[in-house]
Amino acid sequence: MAFDWIQKEWFSKNSKLVFFTGAGMSAESGIRTFRDNDGYWSQYDPMKLASPAGFENDPKLVLDWYQYRRNEIKKAKPNKGYDAIENIAKLFPQAQVITQNVDGFHKKADFIDVIELHGNIHKTHCNQCRKENLDGCELLHDDKPIFCDCGGLMRPSVVWFGESLRLSVMHQAESISRSADIFFSIGTSSLIYPAAQMPYEAKNNGAKIIEINPQSTPLTSMADASIQGLSGEILFKIYQELHANYN
Ligand code: OAD
Repeated sequence: MAFDWIQKEWFSKNSKLVFFTGAGMSAESGIRTFRDNDGYWSQYDPMKLASPAGFENDPKLVLDWYQYRRNEIKKAKPNKGYDAIENIAKLFPQAQVITQNVDGFHKKADFIDVIELHGNIHKTHCNQCRKENLDGCELLHDDKPIFCDCGGLMRPSVVWFGESLRLSVMHQAESISRSADIFFSIGTSSLIYPAAQMPYEAKNNGAKIIEINPQSTPLTSMADASIQGLSGEILFKIYQELHANYN
């Protein structure tokens, strides 16, 4: 390849590429990450806004915050990193995405298989009986929380701190990671488990790990290539290289 970040011999036309993404993937769309200096958790307490105890204590505070985040996401659009992944997936049809993001941006490319490990902010379910998507997925009605028939409160369908990931989703993500030939870890601090286990599942099963992040993370030292930069810019360059070699 013309650039020396990654080696051409790692790729073949039949390579299975897996893109594992975190909040940094949407940063160039103007959506805040969690742990950067200007990230949400520098300003807000995750236990108040993203935990079962926080929701029990003050449901309106939590729902208002998710409504605010929904509005921010609605104002934004997927950046050129998303376009690059879509274009790379056209060259390598086995490509799959595992994301920790809840913004639904990857799902806009409907031909790519996308696992949303931490759920989707645009969906709702009952906090008590888990029934899904009442009232067109609204979080609030007349600025008030919405109750399910069972008496429980509707909440965003995202995974909170202290909650388990859905087992079927987790198993799917593990199995996709283990099947990867090339595993891209993009825009994630690699701190939150079990999601952060995915690159290790891939590596232990022979995949090459390529990390894209402006900062070092706990994954950096075990990655086969660590590319320091913005995901939109780097993915676009990788696409150009792959297009030149595998079209
Ligand atoms: P974090 O906020 O922890 O990490 C974002 C990462 O993106 C950092 O390592 C940044 O250096 C990097 N980054 C920032 N801008 C970037 C860019 N333009 N291109 C590439 N990388 C960039 O976000 P996550 O790792 O996704 O969970 O966080 C994991 C989970 O913790 C989230 O899903 C969320 C959060 O609390 C829940 O809410 C349950």
